[in-house]
Amino acid sequence: MARVKFIICAFCMILVMADCQQHGPETIQDIGVNWGLLSTNPIDPRIVVNMLKDNAIKKVKIFDTDPWILSAFSGTDIEVMVGIPNDQLTKISGDIDEAEDWVKNNVSKHLHDGGVNIRYVSVGNEAFLKAYNGSFLKTTFPAMENIQKALNSAGLGGKIKVTSALNADVYDTSTDKPSGGHFRKDIYDVMKQIVKFLDENNSPFLVNIYPFLSLYQNDDFPKDYAFFDSPSRTITDDNNQYTNVFDANLDTLVWALKKAGHPKVSIMIGEIGWPTDGNKHANKNNAKRFYSGFLKKWASKKGSPLRPEPMIAYLFSLLDENTKSVAPGNFERHWGIFSYDGKPKFPIDLSGKDHDKMLVGAKGIRYLEQQWCVLDKDIKNMSSVVPAVSYACSLGDCTSLGPGCSCADLSAVGNASYAFNQFFQNNEQSVEACKFDGLATIVKKDPSPSNGNCVFPIQIYSGGTMLRGGAYMVKGLLIGFVLIFITFI
Ligand SMILES: *[C@@H]1O[C@H](CO)[C@@H](O)[C@H](O)[C@H]1NC(C)=O
Ligand SMILES: *[C@@H]1O[C@H](CO)[C@@H](O)[C@H](O)[C@H]1NC(C)=O
Ligand SMILES: *[C@@H]1O[C@H](CO)[C@@H](O)[C@H](O)[C@H]1NC(C)=O
Ligand SMILES: *[C@@H]1O[C@H](CO)[C@@H](O)[C@H](O)[C@H]1NC(C)=O
Repeated sequence: MARVKFIICAFCMILVMADCQQHGPETIQDIGVNWGLLSTNPIDPRIVVNMLKDNAIKKVKIFDTDPWILSAFSGTDIEVMVGIPNDQLTKISGDIDEAEDWVKNNVSKHLHDGGVNIRYVSVGNEAFLKAYNGSFLKTTFPAMENIQKALNSAGLGGKIKVTSALNADVYDTSTDKPSGGHFRKDIYDVMKQIVKFLDENNSPFLVNIYPFLSLYQNDDFPKDYAFFDSPSRTITDDNNQYTNVFDANLDTLVWALKKAGHPKVSIMIGEIGWPTDGNKHANKNNAKRFYSGFLKKWASKKGSPLRPEPMIAYLFSLLDENTKSVAPGNFERHWGIFSYDGKPKFPIDLSGKDHDKMLVGAKGIRYLEQQWCVLDKDIKNMSSVVPAVSYACSLGDCTSLGPGCSCADLSAVGNASYAFNQFFQNNEQSVEACKFDGLATIVKKDPSPSNGNCVFPIQIYSGGTMLRGGAYMVKGLLIGFVLIFITFI
């Protein structure tokens, strides 16, 4: 009898295992995410990695090689793309020893058994943006070459691919159609070297494509064309139909590659997403619409008219970042599919099957005290408040206050309170940070308006201040113990 049971059980196991294999991960079909750290209080990386696991996210792109972040991936099978920041390109491009040191200290070190699954190095980040005035024009490609050589001599050349995350502004079209696509004139020579390099090393062209920016930068842009669910505008080009700007943009790149003599280079989407605040087009409904359309398209494996094949894509971004530069626009701090504290913002289905639901939020987040800094209710002269508000906003994050944003409906008093609270929270709720020459006061009742759109946040303990939190907890436990002890006596 026992034996029969065992056999049945073994049979179950096989069934379970077979089932796992059937529905198990298929690397090409895993969506990736970008994880940036430009925040006053970033979440502890271990919590973030658990959140990635809880949501079955298996590909991550980060912007440097911070050991604090990388070590959190140790022993996981999550594929990691690391980055070399633009300010390191000069050093690495000029000296092969620097490149070898970089690989040794930032890559090889993490590759031991139970280490980190590093698969790509992005050399530079959007280094040819027009805003950089060509600052990285001479160093990006030599740095890529040096990193490739260094990886080769470390025996990692086949396993880890070298590329460079580029903004879609490296190409242009002279005809408003994909077939007019070509690399930008001012960077044509270096782009040709780069694509030749990618071709020879079987590395992907990594491009960031932002339909949101098309809409943001141009008031006449047909809104539906930024999404994937409305064929209201169709462009016909060379017998191909384009019903969304993403496909058209991607195929513009395909044409540019073709004209540069390297039509077969594979393409990966380095960043794609939609922000949820900071602009009239940036809200949860639009973000949900965009992601839902994009993920469905991605899951269909149909690609674009000229690249009808599965694609690898990294969503931008995992979490909001409250110290990101707002030079491109106030939306920059609101790209997360999760808010700063790891809460999912809107329903989404990362498998692209259109079964939208809330993702699993970060577990184990610890908030600072439930208290806020607001304008003192006795202050009646609002003009005296103005300089204090500007000061608070110059150092805190007021990007939710503009027209069309989540806190646009606040009164002048609400505005001031919001600004004061942002400054206060980002300074770890220090009493000093809620003075503003006697204009502000700390309250224990949540000042957020009741309609739910505009939230006056409470900051979190970041990974860096974990120890402090840990100490509090130990103290709490001790006190609890003593109390129990006393009760028992
Ligand atoms: C990467 O390696 C370089 C060269 O050894 C080193 O100076 C740098 O600190 C490393 N970067 C990080 C983020 O560890
Ligand atoms: C680029 O040039 C403009 C105009 O000359 C200047 O204002 C800006 O600061 C420069 N940016 C960088 C990153 O050098
Ligand atoms: C309000 O404050 C401004 C600036 O501090 C000051 O110039 C003005 O006299 C004040 N008005 C009143 C009515 O106190
Ligand atoms: C609140 O602040 C925003 C951003 O500074 C501004 O656009 C808006 O007009 C302000 N609202 C009021 C009522 O002062």
